[in-house]
Amino acid sequence: MKIGILISGRGSNMTAITEAVQSGLIPASEVVAVISDKTSAKGLIKAKERGIETLVISRNGRTREEHDAEVVTELKKRNVELVCLAGYMRFLSKEFVRAFPDRITNIHPSLLPSFKGLDAQRQAIDYGVKVSGCTVHLVDEDLDHGAIILQKAVEVLDDDTAETLSARILEHEHALYVEAIKRIVEEKIEVNGRKVVTKR
Ligand code: GRF
Repeated sequence: MKIGILISGRGSNMTAITEAVQSGLIPASEVVAVISDKTSAKGLIKAKERGIETLVISRNGRTREEHDAEVVTELKKRNVELVCLAGYMRFLSKEFVRAFPDRITNIHPSLLPSFKGLDAQRQAIDYGVKVSGCTVHLVDEDLDHGAIILQKAVEVLDDDTAETLSARILEHEHALYVEAIKRIVEEKIEVNGRKVVTKR
């Protein structure tokens, strides 16, 4: 399966996915492009180091639809079948989502549907929850809303800050995202509306 990964920053999830693909842990697949909307994204260097083609597609004052159309064109040109959002800080237009039905994934650092949007870890701390975590889900036309593939719970400690909680959640994000993609590539997941079922 040809995979395209979209990033905006550090790219640690992108690196985890790429290494899992390159080591064969995620079988029969290839990361064919890493696309960033930001020139400054540190993940671009990590992708290049791993021999992956990188592209920067900046918004450049264009509408969301115009920007997304270029990203979709570049993905389709490379026959991408699965798009993984990995710290991509842009909300996708419905045209983008419809170009890859049930084939766009995202990782979010909370147990959805709690704490959607930006700063999910800080939202969790401020709310006072005792458990948070991370979620890998399919992307639909609403923010952080699509069907959930996998979740991992992480305890929130009394002295946690947004930074310490983020770091502990991140330790689980990489393995969770890799496992979710592995299941998609191995055609082990079935999507029934909001429910994603793993076939044994
Ligand atoms: C992660 O916390 C992810 O859950 C969120 O953005 C962050 C990206 O980190 N969507 P990285 O760029 O993968 O290191």
